[in-house]
Amino acid sequence: MTVDVAKETGRGEYATAEGKTLRKVGIPKEISTGERRVAATPDTAKVLQKLGFEVLIESKAGETANFPDDLYRQAGCQIVPDAETLWAQTDIVLKVRPPDMHPTLGKHEVDLLSFGGHLIGFIWPSQNPELLERLAARKATVLAMDAIPRITRAQKMDALSSMANIAGYRAVIEAANHFDRFFTGQITAAGKVPPAKVLVIGAGVAGLAAIGTARGLGAVVRAFDTRPAVKEQVQSLGAEFLELKFAEDGTGEGGYAKVMSDEFIKAEMALFATQAREVDIIITTALIPGQKAPLLITQAMVESMKKGSVIVDMAAEQGGNCAVTKPSEVYRYQEVTIVGLTDLPSRMAYQASQLYGTNLCHLLEEMGGASEYKIDLENEVVRGALVLHNGEVTWPPPKPEKKAGGTGKEQQQESVKKEDLSPKPSLASPTSPPLSSSKRSNDLLWLFLAGLALVGVGLGAPSSFLSHFTVFILACFIGWQVIWNVKPALHTPLMSVTNAISGIIIIGGMLQISGAPSSPTTILGAIAVLIGTINISGGFLVTQRMLKMFQK
Ligand code: NAI
Repeated sequence: MTVDVAKETGRGEYATAEGKTLRKVGIPKEISTGERRVAATPDTAKVLQKLGFEVLIESKAGETANFPDDLYRQAGCQIVPDAETLWAQTDIVLKVRPPDMHPTLGKHEVDLLSFGGHLIGFIWPSQNPELLERLAARKATVLAMDAIPRITRAQKMDALSSMANIAGYRAVIEAANHFDRFFTGQITAAGKVPPAKVLVIGAGVAGLAAIGTARGLGAVVRAFDTRPAVKEQVQSLGAEFLELKFAEDGTGEGGYAKVMSDEFIKAEMALFATQAREVDIIITTALIPGQKAPLLITQAMVESMKKGSVIVDMAAEQGGNCAVTKPSEVYRYQEVTIVGLTDLPSRMAYQASQLYGTNLCHLLEEMGGASEYKIDLENEVVRGALVLHNGEVTWPPPKPEKKAGGTGKEQQQESVKKEDLSPKPSLASPTSPPLSSSKRSNDLLWLFLAGLALVGVGLGAPSSFLSHFTVFILACFIGWQVIWNVKPALHTPLMSVTNAISGIIIIGGMLQISGAPSSPTTILGAIAVLIGTINISGGFLVTQRMLKMFQK
């Protein structure tokens, strides 16, 4: 397929000389030292092609993420031997890291971008004003993946969350690597091993992922956050939510946290000072976007920790939450290992590339795919991420409108747990029409049909049958209410419901055993009581055994 050089149509759309809108998407090899991720995997490249793009990839671009050229070739991509040719042949460049000086070409990547070309990747516009100037001089159109607004609709494009999720997981794995004890408690022939105690500070995306992973490994986990709204999420992952007796809510705009008062920080640091003496591992993720990370773990707290403890400071790049963190370094400070790694997602390059590539596919779909590709300034996701439009700086974007009903962050954190971010074969519209009205009319229809059937039975059946039938219907109704209103306080919901059913069976059985001992009704009643009792007591015994398996 040959594509002519794209020409702008004047409305931000691009078209080929034949009038067709068609875009060549190019993926260069990342040049940052130690960066192993790639902006498209063979799977996401297939999705890009489904969206109508032609995919070009620099040779060996995916090698460090375990995607050899052959896999891209099989996925229908064109392998381009060198970076210069790739950038020159491409309409839209997809990258992970912001453009930088190319180590072997001796040129800046921005100068490799075709004049008026499009670039999508992590840009960090606030931290990189010089890069913006360079791109502006190139009349580039640039979308920053780090600037995708945190709104419900944009969750599938939220690369920051995808990466933070991976980083949170990896932080625990790194901690485990430097911790010379089990995470889970064990009872062995040689003695009892207590579980490791982990404290997670900041229960955002990375924090929640860390909590889930540490719990999965069997540790006892405690967490703290300035936003009380995350309490339930922390508890639902099986961790304890530490609380301060201090009336200040850290929930800020757009679902992010706000800067807390000095008194609050002082109170939370007193809490951490106590915790530091108790716990074995501290994972800190506390951050307010655009601010230096708050200093929460002092040198004295580190010194008070047990020998062999580990601190993973995920906010190392933003100054660190711990006073003794050295960004990008792992070292021992007085027998405590301090992990200040800033490349956690890259350490899981395969997974990170897969999720990041999927985020990019969703963004390109949002922008219309190849056939209707355009920079729609009315689209809040595109506008939020757009930092340069034909060389004009469009950063920062206008403030997003406040949405009613929960913060974007809460919804987004929910999604990180629930959403399957793997590439989907079909990128169907994410917003399906609401089903509630059709469901309601369906329910009404069934109710109407049931009413008609009852009237039919009432007209045709003998009166002896009718009295039994009335009792039967009333019993069903009351039984239903009784069973579904049982609170699963001691058991799983399933156990509670089956116990309630067995209870009703026992009462029914008891009412029937008052007759002659050898009558079939009495025998059946006795069997019902026996089986119902076995079911209830057996349920309790099994639950008890299951609970014991999890008790430490
Ligand atoms: P987030 O904004 O979703 O979460 C930060 C959390 O910290 C929020 O829940 C906020 O309420 C909480 N917080 C703010 N101030 C606090 C305080 N004083 N005390 C307790 N909690 C406080 O951010 P996300 O995406 O979870 O990232 C967390 C950190 O991990 C960031 O610093 C981010 O840059 C870093 N990160 C590091 C990576 C690495 O390779 N080291 C990779 C990805 C993210």
